[in-house]
Amino acid sequence: MPRLVVVSNRVAVPDPTGNRAAGGLAVALREAFEAYRGLWFGWSGKVAAHPSTEPRIVDKGQVQYALMDLTSLDRQEYYNGFANRALWPIMHYRIGLSEFSRADYQGYLRVNRTFANALAQLIRPDDLVWVHDYHLIPLAAELRAAGITNLIGYFHHIPWPAPEVLGALPGSRELLRAIMDYNLVGVHTERDADNLRRGLIHDLGAIQHKPDVVEVDRQRTRIKGFPIGIDVGEFQRLAGRSQSNRIIRQTTDGLGSRKLIIGVDRLDYSKGIPERMEAFERFLGTNPDQRGRVTYLQIAPTSRSEVPEYATLGRVVNETLGRINGTLGEPGWVPIHYVTSTYQRSVLAGLYRLAAVGLITPMRDGMNLVAKEYVAAQDPADPGVLILSKFAGAAQQLKAALIVNPNDKIEVAEAIREALQMSQEERVSRWESMMSVLQAQDVSWWAATFLKELTSNKTRTASRASV
Ligand code: F6P
Repeated sequence: MPRLVVVSNRVAVPDPTGNRAAGGLAVALREAFEAYRGLWFGWSGKVAAHPSTEPRIVDKGQVQYALMDLTSLDRQEYYNGFANRALWPIMHYRIGLSEFSRADYQGYLRVNRTFANALAQLIRPDDLVWVHDYHLIPLAAELRAAGITNLIGYFHHIPWPAPEVLGALPGSRELLRAIMDYNLVGVHTERDADNLRRGLIHDLGAIQHKPDVVEVDRQRTRIKGFPIGIDVGEFQRLAGRSQSNRIIRQTTDGLGSRKLIIGVDRLDYSKGIPERMEAFERFLGTNPDQRGRVTYLQIAPTSRSEVPEYATLGRVVNETLGRINGTLGEPGWVPIHYVTSTYQRSVLAGLYRLAAVGLITPMRDGMNLVAKEYVAAQDPADPGVLILSKFAGAAQQLKAALIVNPNDKIEVAEAIREALQMSQEERVSRWESMMSVLQAQDVSWWAATFLKELTSNKTRTASRASV
């Protein structure tokens, strides 16, 4: 069995008590690391004045962690700058928010080169290399330059936009060129895969070989959709055990007979939080009988606060919230509860189960795992209703949700009313249909399918055809 080398910007090292990190990529890769021995390489999350060019190795048995520190300039230019101020908005179709700076772009390339040079020393001939996310698009090109010929896969966890949108970003052709150094590129949906293939054809004159192989300058790569899933059983268990948790008991008592609507998102403009609050305001405006009968809980942990656009969003959310609660609230009822703390997965699972409605309306999202977790956490006999943005990757799979356009507050408000009035029979039938998708394409399916494709003859043949 080859060794699996995972590379990502953030690395989830288990804490000293042996607890495994919860959430996101850590959970997604857990099972892959159980099947393969592994090395996980990336940023330590720390800044140092003079970081070593060699990683610090933390050995945890089956998985070794190799951690690189950054300088504060690296963090500013690579992470806050190019990755999160230029690329992130473009990838989420927000051209107007994208702030390109040549210095940031150089910092992004510099960190990718430093990472590649350090990683190249650790890679063995049979290792499978799997790079994750937009922070590290040029990594394979830098590894190739350092002489690495292993199979290298890339998974893009956020949307891949249409060529006309990506093309607005200076440097986008170089990023597309760098994509070609991967043997297999995974995105969440076929729409994203199609956007990336069209971008390569449109901007680099790529030739498409059916169905998923593209060729540029006699170099070939495969591009495919692999929708990421969740650990369904784990989420069901967490939700089922949650009633004894203090926060869940307090929330249940506080609600009384009121129904709960829940949204959980990082505080990010791609999530559509102010727009969602205004849709809820509209719902209360058009359904005055519902005032005092329903509470919307928005959990939005603060994120990337050094990036100015995130600070602006924080102010907009506070203003929107204050206005709605001030004008519609009553002495005994606050329409929107808003918290910016981070909660454990067990607490989130319990809150999802309490909520009659999961209101997940991002303006754009690669997948959105909260939508999937909300569904998995429901009581099978009396499940809640998922309202889901058509711009979340999850909408391609969870077709039995109430699918809405997050830009249309009237439509979202009507979906809230429909969800709150939906019969138990219809709720159960929609939930069962969504659960069957979640179970068939769970997180282990996702990791195993990507790695199987990476090592498949199809991928090897496409790579060999590159000359
Ligand atoms: O979904 C994209 C992503 O970058 C994930 O890789 C990451 O876990 C999440 O957003 C949070 O972002 P950050 O690492 O910037 O806090």
